Amino acid sequence: MNLDHPKLVNLLRMAYSAEKAAALAYTGHANSIKDPEQKAAIKQIEEDEWNHRREVLAIIRRYDIPVSKWYEIKFHVIGRLISACCYVIGWFMPFYFAGRLESGNVCEYFRMMHYFEEVEITDHHATLYEMGIKEKEHEMFFLEKLQSHRLLPFFEKVFAWGKDRTFNDVDLEAKYSMEASTRYCRQEKS
Ligand SMILES: [Fe+2]
Ligand SMILES: [Fe+2]
Repeated sequence: MNLDHPKLVNLLRMAYSAEKAAALAYTGHANSIKDPEQKAAIKQIEEDEWNHRREVLAIIRRYDIPVSKWYEIKFHVIGRLISACCYVIGWFMPFYFAGRLESGNVCEYFRMMHYFEEVEITDHHATLYEMGIKEKEHEMFFLEKLQSHRLLPFFEKVFAWGKDRTFNDVDLEAKYSMEASTRYCRQEKS
């Protein structure tokens, strides 16, 4: 079956490769951390990202979409670079930029839901919902660790993410059901 939606096809191919970048980055992040509890939590997040990559691949295969070689190389390099940086930039920045990145990733999956609806396909809603919510959980994990850090207010001002600023409108405390969740991420940024 062919997927006649160029934006969606591109988003799927990009997400597939970007999940690898995330997983590779978390490998370095987990290894660079001393606290055993935090290390285990980040290893779990890395595992979640590999799972996402598998889920996205299953969707890609179903529509005979070729994996982008360019994205694979680009995101591999990005992942390895971030991974290496984690050893030299201290504790705060890897946590901060991971949280900020996760914040942006949340809507990728809800946007895919919107695009799939445009071509009248709802088969992937449950998987996409689960992945979008999981990215939100990742965001909240990092935010919770950063909450009381003295550098957070400054970084929040400069990089536009933190306690009061996020790149999505998902609220885990009052989250929508899967059926209602296509309401999420209707705006570019929230
Ligand atoms: Fe992910
Ligand atoms: Fe994530």
